[in-house]
Amino acid sequence: MAKKITNRVTWVGKIDWELTSFHGDELSTHRGSSYNSYLIRDKKVALIDTVWLPYDREFVARLKEEIDLQKIDYIIMNHNEVDHSGALVELLREIPGTPIYCTAKGEAIIRGHYHQDWNFVRVKTGDTLSLGETTLTFIEAPMLHWPDTMFTYMSGDNTLFSNDGFGQHYATESLYNDRVCMAEVMQEALKYYVNILNPFSPMVLRKVKEVVGMNLPLDLICPSHGVIWRENPAQIVEKYLQWADAYQEDQVTIVYDTMWQSTRQMAQAIAQGIQEASPSTTVKLMNASVDDKNDILTEMFRAKLVLMGSPTINNGYSYAIAGLLEMARGLKFKKKRAAAFGSYGWSGEATKMITEHLQQAGFEIVNDGIRQAWVPDTDMLQACREWGTSLM
Ligand code: FEO
Repeated sequence: MAKKITNRVTWVGKIDWELTSFHGDELSTHRGSSYNSYLIRDKKVALIDTVWLPYDREFVARLKEEIDLQKIDYIIMNHNEVDHSGALVELLREIPGTPIYCTAKGEAIIRGHYHQDWNFVRVKTGDTLSLGETTLTFIEAPMLHWPDTMFTYMSGDNTLFSNDGFGQHYATESLYNDRVCMAEVMQEALKYYVNILNPFSPMVLRKVKEVVGMNLPLDLICPSHGVIWRENPAQIVEKYLQWADAYQEDQVTIVYDTMWQSTRQMAQAIAQGIQEASPSTTVKLMNASVDDKNDILTEMFRAKLVLMGSPTINNGYSYAIAGLLEMARGLKFKKKRAAAFGSYGWSGEATKMITEHLQQAGFEIVNDGIRQAWVPDTDMLQACREWGTSLM
């Protein structure tokens, strides 16, 4: 159902309550998501973004209930990953000549996806499109998080259509940040940032500072996923400035895998030592085989120190830890200290291998780690506590 946002802007997207993962299985979506599309009715009519492919017919059918499609003058595509461009084929079947405003990279991506010779209008930063009373201004935002990304600012309603930027995978019928649980939304916004945007943090920092420097009046930020920032939209801008700048909290995140509980016992003893040395520090233990991978990465992002442990298995380490190390490499965390630990039976390579991979992933290695043959006894658990204490 369409939802009126302002006198001119109507939300015409799709709320996806059933979505449990995104980008294949790369990103868990515990709270669903939405694909936000916006219809602007002024003297001219513009549609901003569409929805994911499986919902293309539903999207177009609902849009028809809202407006005669022939009255849509412009389609604005801020970013062309299929969760936003997926309904273009179905829509343009009805209105084939409608100009599509996008960046040059956007045109290339749409052509690469759909192989159609549609009516593209390439735009650059500072280009404008008058709709009558209001004007759209385009702001290229490459690598936030694809090369084609741009923001569209609408004067009059003081609204920034930011696509993935400031978004969250969060399904709600309530639409606005002031009508939902803010703790949930902020957790999802952080998880989204960590798992999608963090590799591009230098670009995020530059772009967000540039947009802030434009001093645009800002009443609404309308992203392409999750809630619209209506109450204090600057709060999510502030968060992005913090997250993009080597963010860390006073937190230690201990990630481990375990076969017969020895590495788990080590992890708990290390946590105890850390907590004894620094009671104010938040210590989180996460089991790589039990906890959600993207939640773990989000807690690694919060941390100033990451400790990663695995038993040695087949002269290596657990596949769950291997997966996290590969994901952490790609996410490019900055200014985080790290070390490894683990139990073993007869060869014991895991600790050294994890240390090497943490280093390759950009972590600052604090020492060679700690390892234990077979099951830790009282002395070994004390050594783990002391090792934890020494890291603080
Ligand atoms: Fe929501 Fe990058 O697509």
